[in-house]
Formats: sequence, structure tokens, C-alpha cells
Amino acid sequence: MKEAFHGSDVEKIEELYGIPAEEIISFAANVSPLGVSEKYLQGITEKLRSVERYPDREYTALRKALGRYCKAEPRHMIVGGGSSELIGAVIKHKKTPKALIIAPAYAEYERNVNIAGGEADYYYLKSEDGFEFDIDDICGALSPEYDILIVCNPVNPTSTAVASKDIERLLDKCDELGIVCAVDETYIDFADEAYDVSPLTKKHPCLFVIRSMSKFFCAPGLRLGFGITSNESLLREIGENKDPWSVSSLSNEAAILMLSDEAYIKKVKKYMSEERDRICKKLDELKNTGISYIRPKANFVLVRLPGHGPSSHELFERAVRERMMIRDCADFRGLDETYIRFCFMMREDNDRLLSLIKEAYT
Ligand SMILES: Cc1ncc(COP(=O)(O)O)c(C=O)c1O
Repeated sequence: MKEAFHGSDVEKIEELYGIPAEEIISFAANVSPLGVSEKYLQGITEKLRSVERYPDREYTALRKALGRYCKAEPRHMIVGGGSSELIGAVIKHKKTPKALIIAPAYAEYERNVNIAGGEADYYYLKSEDGFEFDIDDICGALSPEYDILIVCNPVNPTSTAVASKDIERLLDKCDELGIVCAVDETYIDFADEAYDVSPLTKKHPCLFVIRSMSKFFCAPGLRLGFGITSNESLLREIGENKDPWSVSSLSNEAAILMLSDEAYIKKVKKYMSEERDRICKKLDELKNTGISYIRPKANFVLVRLPGHGPSSHELFERAVRERMMIRDCADFRGLDETYIRFCFMMREDNDRLLSLIKEAYT
């Protein structure tokens, strides 16, 4: 049986394959393997009683901490229940939105456009260009009929990214045409600073940046994301479309602790950048098997399987039997059963997965 799995569906794997969820290493959820910050673990017990009060409706202290972390103005920020809530809120801020989505893309964008009764068109990054952005070509695909352009940067699932200096032409065009440009930066903390477009929010009112604490801070259960824009009316409309207290008092306190742990932030950045380089070298060594990959900018890599040997689904099943869950990318628009994606976990686990892949194609 073929099923599409989200990277966090380990319980579904348990049900279908009979493998206990806690034994499965998820190479599909794109969450850092390094665990939560020590500062959070030490400080949170003092904050347990915070649930006795409603959170500050304006989340002033949290926005200040987030603003310091990502060098944005707290007054330009809005917090929500994961980047998921903000993705939904920005797409739904207009009734029946007409959206242009850069694909391959995270499926939630399309789902939210559908919920809003809107219509989605796709601009496909091309495999022959290594899924790199051709900004002039994307500008050519924009027209005043669109309400929103949705870009993931770095892109899930390709792990390619557009540099902030290159995206400016696109933002100029969106400003000119009155199109909201939503840039989902859920994976930006793993990438080089040059890819972060959030500093451009001050200059471009069309820009709405979406960020998350789920992946880099190893805290998907916190359900904390945030949005950044200098566009006051957009910020107000998004705020009106979401629940007033969607971030709990405890998540509020937890995030402030996590964001203050500079040593932890440095450690995760260093580990991921070293592991990314190491894994690329190992993948380069597999070239003679016909395996290729897109050079990753985030904490995961898109791998193209050779014509011979197992399909993406067959490889997924082989890996699951070894208690490793990878992402079969066959259900992504613009990809097929020759693509898989996996994120970088602990070194010895990554090596185990790479050996399994090597064995499958030699
Ligand atoms: C591109 C992208 N955006 C948003 C999300 C949702 O993240 P959050 O946990 O912050 O809601 C994910 C989760 O996989 C993702 O891959």
C-alpha cells in the first residue's frame, strides 16, 4: 500500500509497519537532532505556573526577544501557533485569494488557498537548472491578478535558496503590482545569513516573512512561529484573522528562554553546517552509482535516485524496516518517484542511512 507521510507521522508508521514509534529516527521531519536548549530545561520549571494567567495579548516580551534574535522591529512582528498558523493567516487575509506558488512546495500552501476558496497557480523551479531561482523569469510570471506570491526560502523540499540581494527585484515587482509576497523562512536559521530576507521587510511593504521555532530549536511541540512585515494594514488584517492567544503562556516563556541561549544557537549552527558539508562529500562519493543531489542550503537534502534499483517508495520501505524514516518525494508537485529527501540527524545515524542508500544502488 502506498501512503503519503508527513515527516512527523511516526505513529502512522507504527500502525502500518508495526515498528514502535520511539524506535524510528525521523529523517523526514527536518527537525534538528540536537535536542532542546539547556537554558530552557533549567529555566522552565520556574515558569510552570504561568499557565494560571492568560498570556499577554500583545506578546510584548516575546516579540522583543524574537526581534533581538532576528534583528527585526518588535512592532513589525506577530506570533502564532507555529509557522503553520501564520501561513494560513496570510493566505486567508483576503477572501478567495489568487495565489502564485513557487514549486516544488510545501503542500500546506495549496491546502490553505483551497480552504480560503481561492485559486493557486504554480511556477515550477526547473530540475535542469538544479531548482535554482530565475528571478527575472519569476517576475515575468507575475501579473496584477495575483493577490499573493508564496515562496519558501530555503525551499522545502529542494533545499535551494535565493539570496536576499537577488530577491529584491521580485519584491520591487510585488510592491509595484500590489501583490503580497509571503516568504516562508521556516529553515532559514540553518542557512547562511545572506539568504535571510527579513531585513528587507523595512524597505518592502509587500513582504511578509514567516519563521518558526520548530526546526532549529528542536521544538515542534512548542507550536511557535512568527511573522514579520512593515506593512501595518497587512499586520492588522492578519492579526484580526487569527486567535488572540494562540501561543500559550508556557510556550511564550519557553521561547524567551530558548532565544536567550546564544551558546546553544552557535552549537546548532556549527553542527549543521559541518554535517551538511560532510554529507555532501559522502554523496559525491556515490556519484558512480548514478545518485545525484541538489547542493543543500538548509538542514536537509534532495537526492535524485538512479534509473536502476528501488523507486523512492521502495527505498522508503527499506529504510523504515531499518527504523529510519525518509521522505518519499513522489507526491510533491514537480517531483516524481526518483526523488527522496532526508534531513541531517546525528552523525552515526546519517552514516547508517547513507550506507543503506549506497547498498540499494550498487
Ligand atoms: C516549509 C515549511 N513551512 C512550515 C512548516 C510548519 O512548521 P511549524 O511547525 O512552525 O508550523 C513546515 C513543517 O514541516 C515546513 O516544512
